[in-house]
Amino acid sequence: MNFKLPRPIFSEELCQILSREVRRQKIVVLRLSTKRLKELAQVCKEIEKQELPKHLVCKKLPQKLGSGIFLHADAKPILKGQVIASYAGEVFLVPQTDQEDGSYAFEPLDKMRLTKEEQFLFHKKCTYSPARNYSLMIDALKKGNFTRFINHSEQPNIVAHLCKVPANPYGLVPAPIEVIYFAKKTILPKEQLLVSYEEGGKTYWGASNIKPFAMTPTTFQCS
Ligand SMILES: C[S@@+](CC[C@H](N)C(=O)[O-])C[C@H]1O[C@@H](n2cnc3c(N)ncnc32)[C@H](O)[C@@H]1O
Repeated sequence: MNFKLPRPIFSEELCQILSREVRRQKIVVLRLSTKRLKELAQVCKEIEKQELPKHLVCKKLPQKLGSGIFLHADAKPILKGQVIASYAGEVFLVPQTDQEDGSYAFEPLDKMRLTKEEQFLFHKKCTYSPARNYSLMIDALKKGNFTRFINHSEQPNIVAHLCKVPANPYGLVPAPIEVIYFAKKTILPKEQLLVSYEEGGKTYWGASNIKPFAMTPTTFQCS
């Protein structure tokens, strides 16, 4: 695989819009502690260097499940609360009306309002409409990191939180909002990392007409 993008890249203009929308919509974003910022910085370095951190394994699964991410058999357990990585991908502002949810797309923010200048900047094709709502999409189809291979489960050991990355001395570019995956519980060696795609009332499977395969972190194991 060739996915070495540690975090999504937001332009300065987009950062301003996102900060304003987080305030306007009173979105609750987690402020990362020093410990979590250091963990995020560490995993970012590993992704840039070798795509997959050394303690993880990307393994092909049976049927049509594609690949999945596992904790290496020789690794130490991942403790509850530990940062896994940022969900990275190409960043788009999409009008909510013509939204096509891709299999690798995450929508951290919706109901966004843009000024005339902002609509012109991000959505040149359409005439200005003050009432049009936009969504922030992070799409890992073509660019991203190993988090794009994390499969779905209704008994997940990973949880996605909306986080703010503040100014910091660890080389992380600040961001007003970002999706970060954390360990929801202790993850043992050989277990698969699994997240619920539908947490927080989101729909994922409804749109695709696929019935998700019921798997838990131990259904498949890496040897
Ligand atoms: C974000 S990708 C996960 C990585 C994917 N397995 C791959 O190899 O690219 C999401 C896609 O993986 C598959 N998938 C993930 N979890 C699944 C599950 N529990 N049951 C069936 N398919 C699943 C579906 O095709 C879904 O659209």
